[in-house]
Amino acid sequence: MSDWIPLTKPYFSQDEAQAAAQTLLTGEIGGGGGISRRVEQKLAARFNVKHALLVPSGTHAMELSLMALDLQPGDQVIVPSFTFTSTATAILRQGAQPVFCEIEADTFNLDVEDAAARVTARTRAIMPVHYAGVGCRMDRILELAQNHGLKIVEDAAQGVGAKYGGKYLGTIGDAGAYSFHVTKNVTCGEGGAFLTNDDALALRAEIIHEKGTNRAQFLRGQVDKYTWVDVGSSFVLSDLLARILETQLDKLDEINAKRAVLYQHYQDAFAPLEAREWLKRPVIPPGIASNWHIYALRVAVARRDALIDHLRARGIGATFHYVPLHSSPFGRAQLGYRGDELPVTEMVSRSLVRLPLYPDLTAAQVEYIAAATREFFDGQVRA
Ligand SMILES: Cc1ncc(COP(=O)(O)O)c(C=O)c1O
Repeated sequence: MSDWIPLTKPYFSQDEAQAAAQTLLTGEIGGGGGISRRVEQKLAARFNVKHALLVPSGTHAMELSLMALDLQPGDQVIVPSFTFTSTATAILRQGAQPVFCEIEADTFNLDVEDAAARVTARTRAIMPVHYAGVGCRMDRILELAQNHGLKIVEDAAQGVGAKYGGKYLGTIGDAGAYSFHVTKNVTCGEGGAFLTNDDALALRAEIIHEKGTNRAQFLRGQVDKYTWVDVGSSFVLSDLLARILETQLDKLDEINAKRAVLYQHYQDAFAPLEAREWLKRPVIPPGIASNWHIYALRVAVARRDALIDHLRARGIGATFHYVPLHSSPFGRAQLGYRGDELPVTEMVSRSLVRLPLYPDLTAAQVEYIAAATREFFDGQVRA
């Protein structure tokens, strides 16, 4: 067996190590300091958005968004069930209600028609999740939101550097959330960003971000001392992590270009297996600029777990993805779902296999993974 091939691996070098060491030695490692402000400005310029705030995680970015939008108890928010818990917990923390909707069978992104059917008089917002860094159908989501007066908070945790219709994911709706978790394309271990083009929302968010104070206005010289003016929490990121992130952001294009090449290797290697109807390769719709965050196959539900076992036994960190939130223990016990209401979501969840994808993965390793997959299906056919 070859060495273990992990699912994800950060792309670090001496650059990050030196940036971290230098920052430590200056002692400037508090939250929301000069480095954070510089990186926030770089984020805003890089992703062509008016305002960016660094936060401790993508989870915090969504919590900050919904706090700033003043989501209230009783409000409903439409969100795909096929997502990480954070998208839904951010809603629950406001006392509001997540309303789970279906996804498309090919992109695993929110199904806009299904979402539209779930709009009620209490619906306040919709949270599209850009799965694998492939943009949701934002033109149709914007239209739906406009027709019903809904706010859009994009869960672009996986979408850093990806675009829809020429705009960066996370910058199209009212607010957007990026994640810089260790599994993401660019990372500082844990981290995230809140993004918005709305000046009033940004003003409220920067107050909530700084424990309910107007410290950001004070630092800009707009008030002569800072004080408590609104609800808030500690949503700032340590400048140590911001400095590591700054180094990573400089490499975003390099990282995503390497991922694109590997993704295409996978696509080529699996084309003959798809032709035999053993699996379905992932789909990036035309006109969508992905960031190649995840490579995920779909296989028959009856074979999925055996394939993952087969690959893992050969040193390949293949894995499944989300347990749909409506079928989770919390979704059933606390939110009243039975767990079988969203058939496309359930089918996708049971048939999905994620394969290793990170910049240092080699073409030979992709070949090895494809060969191990072929070997599995050959064995199944013979059996
Ligand atoms: C779709 C999605 N939303 C939210 C998150 C949460 O981001 P974080 O781990 O930075 O809190 C993640 C991943 O971690 C994610 O994949």
